[in-house]
Amino acid sequence: MDKIDKKKEDCIHVGNEKFIPLITEEEIQKRNVELGKKISKDYRSKLPILIGVLNGSFIFLADLIKNVNIKCEVDFFKLSSYGDEKISSGHVKLLKELNADITDRHVIIVEDIVDSGLSMQFILEMLSKSKPASLSVASLLVKPGSLKFDIKIDYIGFEIADKFVIGYGLDYAQKYRNLRSIYVLSE
Ligand code: IMP
Ligand code: MG
Repeated sequence: MDKIDKKKEDCIHVGNEKFIPLITEEEIQKRNVELGKKISKDYRSKLPILIGVLNGSFIFLADLIKNVNIKCEVDFFKLSSYGDEKISSGHVKLLKELNADITDRHVIIVEDIVDSGLSMQFILEMLSKSKPASLSVASLLVKPGSLKFDIKIDYIGFEIADKFVIGYGLDYAQKYRNLRSIYVLSE
């Protein structure tokens, strides 16, 4: 039986570890409506390209653009992940390149979470080289307590404590991305 174990108050049990509900599906979708409205307003007379960072951002990006009511484009690239660990290796690698030409384009980077900010710093440096007309960042989650880089995040879904979370695109050893809400590791 390989079903996700959702016993007791809807907690997720992974071996000896327990994840408890943090942000509900309703709260996420409500925030997506607000962020979509804000982006639509800010980019009213522009044609932005939303660039999702794979794998984590795919669900957030999909839900977010449904709330963007101006014309926009979408593309993705892929960075190396945490592997199967809960802490970052401290190295970022580009695993799949971006196809779109972003020179002179209005770019919105879409991330699932900014933790230390190392990945976002790498992304900003990499994309800046192509000379986009503008470059902004949308992240569903931010852990302000663990930020180590001075990064401006223009669209933030939720600020959370410095704890490991899963669900809604975010994985633990590549699993649990398909959970509809966000769960946090309970200590
Ligand atoms: P950073 O480079 O330390 O900011 O980490 C960013 C990346 O690590 C994110 O894009 C996520 O893929 C992953 N990550 C950071 N925190 C978490 C977490 O709590 N759960 C799952 N993945 C995370
Ligand atoms: Mg990510």
